[in-house]
Amino acid sequence: EKGPYPHYMLKEIDEQPSVIRNVVSKYQDRNGEIAIDSNIREAMKGSDRIYIIGCGTSFHAGLVGKQLLEKMADVPVEVHVASEFLYNRPILSGKPLFIMISQSGETADSRGVLVEIKKLGYRALTITNVAGSTLSREADYTLLTHAGPEIAVASTKAYTAQLAVLTILAYDCAKAKGMDIGFDPVGELSLAANAMEIMINRKEKMEEIVWSYLSATRNCFFIGRSVDYFVCLEGALKLKEISYIQAEGFAGGELKHGTIALIEEGTPVVALLTQASIAGNIRSNVQEVMARGASVCMISMEGLEESSDRLVIPKVHEYLAPLVSVIPLQLIAYYAALFRGCDVDKPRNLAKSVTVE
Ligand code: M6R
Repeated sequence: EKGPYPHYMLKEIDEQPSVIRNVVSKYQDRNGEIAIDSNIREAMKGSDRIYIIGCGTSFHAGLVGKQLLEKMADVPVEVHVASEFLYNRPILSGKPLFIMISQSGETADSRGVLVEIKKLGYRALTITNVAGSTLSREADYTLLTHAGPEIAVASTKAYTAQLAVLTILAYDCAKAKGMDIGFDPVGELSLAANAMEIMINRKEKMEEIVWSYLSATRNCFFIGRSVDYFVCLEGALKLKEISYIQAEGFAGGELKHGTIALIEEGTPVVALLTQASIAGNIRSNVQEVMARGASVCMISMEGLEESSDRLVIPKVHEYLAPLVSVIPLQLIAYYAALFRGCDVDKPRNLAKSVTVE
């Protein structure tokens, strides 16, 4: 039930810190150590390449998951949009393992891939929010996201729970390989949950941002580099699906290869910066779009901020930055939809779970 909330989406945004804490507790063993099912650990160890499959927000979680698995556990990962995989099937490695990411566990496009790869004799792990869902039943293994029912069509808490589970999977995989990565998943995820809470408690600030940048616009661009780019894709999807503002996420470095032609006086650009390694580059992209008249809303992480930045998010481990940086983007989408009088929980033309291919 929505309780005192006007919309499920707002309730689900607010639930995220406790969802992350819950995910951590579900994957802790008796000694408080992070541990996943030993069969899954073996399957991960026995594969030479991971293929992550998803749609929409779950695909975006997969993009972040690729970075987590590659950086933490040194496992090669490919991420594919489910609906494209069957036509453009990549040349598979010798021992592939498939990871299906799906909140509902019922998405037909993702199921199409699962059915196909099972026919080929490959193994699959489903990361889903729904125990007993089709994708869970038909895969060899399941990791649950434990986010509780997600009712709003726009996915929020399922996405951050997927990121937490992918973090746990990557950490477990690194540990199983005997790697010493100096990352404490329980401590870092709990710090990230606290930081998410801080952002959630700054709703007025996000309302102000929406008033100043999005009240009259027809479009909005999100720019970022590295993992920030993946979060930009998610922020843009959120904004377009519920507020109907045309929104696109771009890699900062790609702007000059075409997109910058769209920037004119007053075009809103949300820029994200959470990774020290790309700070200089994204700052110069911001200068480039500002020089063409863009109205830039810079969101940066503590330690990387400049005084002109519009919003500063608390510092967390760089692997976990997406958990926190996505919160302002979710809230921006929410308030933009609200101010425009859109049906926040049930946007036009969309269904919560897409059961047709
Ligand atoms: O249930 P799934 O995670 O498989 O759903 C995938 C997409 O349909 C879903 O994430 C969709 O993009 C959301 N409406 C985004 O907010």
